[in-house]
Amino acid sequence: MSGPREDDQPLLSVRGLGKRYGDRIGCRDVSFDVWPGEVLAIVGESGSGKTTLLNCISTRLEPTTGAVRYRLRDGQERDLYEMSEAERRLLMRTDWGFVHQNPADGLRMSVSAGANVGERLMAVGQRHYGNIRGTAANWLERVEIAEDRIDDRPRDFSGGMRQRLQIARNLVTGPRLVFMDEPTGGLDVSVQARLLDLVRGLVADLGLAAIVVTHDLAVARLLSHRMIVMKDGAVIEAGLTDRVLDDPQAPYTQLLVSSILQV
Ligand SMILES: Nc1ncnc2c1ncn2[C@@H]1O[C@H](COP(=O)(O)OP(=O)(O)OP(=O)(O)O)[C@@H](O)[C@H]1O
Ligand SMILES: [Mg+2]
Repeated sequence: MSGPREDDQPLLSVRGLGKRYGDRIGCRDVSFDVWPGEVLAIVGESGSGKTTLLNCISTRLEPTTGAVRYRLRDGQERDLYEMSEAERRLLMRTDWGFVHQNPADGLRMSVSAGANVGERLMAVGQRHYGNIRGTAANWLERVEIAEDRIDDRPRDFSGGMRQRLQIARNLVTGPRLVFMDEPTGGLDVSVQARLLDLVRGLVADLGLAAIVVTHDLAVARLLSHRMIVMKDGAVIEAGLTDRVLDDPQAPYTQLLVSSILQV
């Protein structure tokens, strides 16, 4: 895939980002940009710092060093860690989505599927019950959940259905940027392939920017325009996905791609 660059200013800019957990390094000196409508994959073996990085750039975890800037809808660029907590919360509700590896972390398991989607709409100010339910039903259909499951609770859903519901809950408010941590991680291979197709279609249709953490190079190949490869907390290679996978430069990436090293 070639990356859309309809806009010449990045949506998100990460500079010199580092996170320490006491003496242990989570990630260090990470810099990259994400443009509107672009999907960036973060790949690397277990413990390489992917989740740490994702959490730092989505304000779920405060970095030790560095800066993360985000361009708001009005064009203004803001440092995320100079914003107030209230401003950050508003951003998370309106502009961003976060898809957890484990759907139970991103859903309310004991309220209905319809309410899981609908409460995000209420959080951005929608009040009309009929409209909210209608939009929720429409989104369930988009993520291939049968309409007659709208009043069922996600705890009665399969893993794949839960993940699709989590995606609907995140996309219903029309975010501009979605963070995903191993979105297909816990699923069977056949279910993964379907879900990836679905995510790919939605991201393209909505013109979303996304940052997707995965240890699976096939996921990066299918979903992303650009990728960064991490090892021991640092970025060791970055570039267009097809270039990195077809012509890896760093010896470690060459190992990853040749599958000598299984991640
Ligand atoms: N809360 C924590 N306290 C201390 N060390 C941590 C904590 N979270 C992560 N680390 C350490 O930071 C490093 C990076 O971990 P991280 O979870 O970001 O890796 P990852 O690439 O997401 O791995 P995986 O693919 O297994 O999810 C590891 O050495 C890990 O042990
Ligand atoms: Mg992780």
